[in-house]
Amino acid sequence: MKVLVVGGGGREHAIAWKISQSPKVEEIFCAPGNAGIKKIVKCIDISAEDIKGLADFAQKERINLTVVGPEVPLVLGIVDEFEARGLRIFGPSKAASQIEGSKVFSKKLMQKYNIPTANFKVFETAADAINYIEKIGVPLVVKADGLAAGKGVVVARKEQDAVSAVKSIMEEKVFGNAGLRVVVEEFLEGPEVTVLAFCDGKTCVPMVSSRDHKRVFDNDEGPNTGGMGAVSPAPAYSLELAEMVENQIIKKTVDAMAKEGIPFKGVLYTGLMLTNEGPRVLEYNCRFGDPEAQVVLPRLETDLIDIMQACIDGKLDKMSIRWKDEKAVCVVLASKGYPGAYEKGKAIEGVEEAEKHGALVFHAGTAEKNGMLVTSGGRVLGVTALGKDGEEARTKAYNAVSKIKFEGMHYRKDIGKVL
Ligand code: AMP
Ligand code: GLY
Repeated sequence: MKVLVVGGGGREHAIAWKISQSPKVEEIFCAPGNAGIKKIVKCIDISAEDIKGLADFAQKERINLTVVGPEVPLVLGIVDEFEARGLRIFGPSKAASQIEGSKVFSKKLMQKYNIPTANFKVFETAADAINYIEKIGVPLVVKADGLAAGKGVVVARKEQDAVSAVKSIMEEKVFGNAGLRVVVEEFLEGPEVTVLAFCDGKTCVPMVSSRDHKRVFDNDEGPNTGGMGAVSPAPAYSLELAEMVENQIIKKTVDAMAKEGIPFKGVLYTGLMLTNEGPRVLEYNCRFGDPEAQVVLPRLETDLIDIMQACIDGKLDKMSIRWKDEKAVCVVLASKGYPGAYEKGKAIEGVEEAEKHGALVFHAGTAEKNGMLVTSGGRVLGVTALGKDGEEARTKAYNAVSKIKFEGMHYRKDIGKVL
């Protein structure tokens, strides 16, 4: 069969890499891909957000299955467009993608179905939001309703920060229409865990747990980023907790979506905080996490194509999904200045050497210039290693990282330290 992967980051590299192991697959395309993905599949120059262009391509090439990585095309309705043309595609519909596309939608869903999350209020004007903030005081969290490329959440410890977040979202409209409404919610504390789950609309199967490392510097200091590394499983996530989360959060969410008449098919990402009062949902996403996919997919033993087909056909209850009993560590290598402004076009050396040392090197912001591998984004590479325990995975990952060089490269030194 022929498969099309939509997207061009580390997550899509991990997805394409895993799919390429399936004996059922003859040819894989990726749109738009990157310099690393290009080494394993055919990359085509169509943007991940050009839904019509992608559907035209899938029709022309007779693609049997399309797999969508990022949230933007899902929220724009790529699944509805493909299905309307009779094309098979893995991912949630436009309506179901609201679970990530609108924080107001997801918070109201959790409230209606008693799914544990932070207390919240929704505001449609800046004045009302600011009044409320002044009344309840900090710490609190301000969230833009719509998609904001991971930048729409402000954890405010000072009242002034909360007020300026509301002003920039609602008055300056830094995220455009995504800021027409804001959610102001209770500040929660505790370790974070990501649980991805395969869903077919009725049945959901949680994957092994993982944890992202969002802050740019060691010990969780500095500004938030798209993710500086990940580990799987997440430390502190016991079997008891996993069972509780599966029954009281993930299954309830999938049931709630079905009851609302918008069944969720695809990968549901549940971001949790393990508070002293129990696990609480911080957010849902309608796709694999990045970098979480880079530690979870290397642990998957079952053919990913079989799982995705079962999700599309509503037959997930018939699947048994197996995982490697190993730990995984992914270290993200970033450009100088990231998550602020950064330069591109720096020559990258040592990727093959790192791979020889037993690591998987997933590309994010890479490109080819005059036959040379160069940087082209803030997060450049994700270096993943597996090990029988956390120490082995971590040592292998950092050993591989030490082979890679580009000007201004920086990365966290503490990923997997407590795994
Ligand atoms: P999000 O973009 O929704 O994943 O949020 C970004 C980060 O903000 C999360 O990973 C948490 O670290 C933090 N966050 C979100 N909601 C809350 C909350 N209610 N209390 C404390 N931190 C939060
Ligand atoms: N790692 C966070 C995300 O994928 O949204």
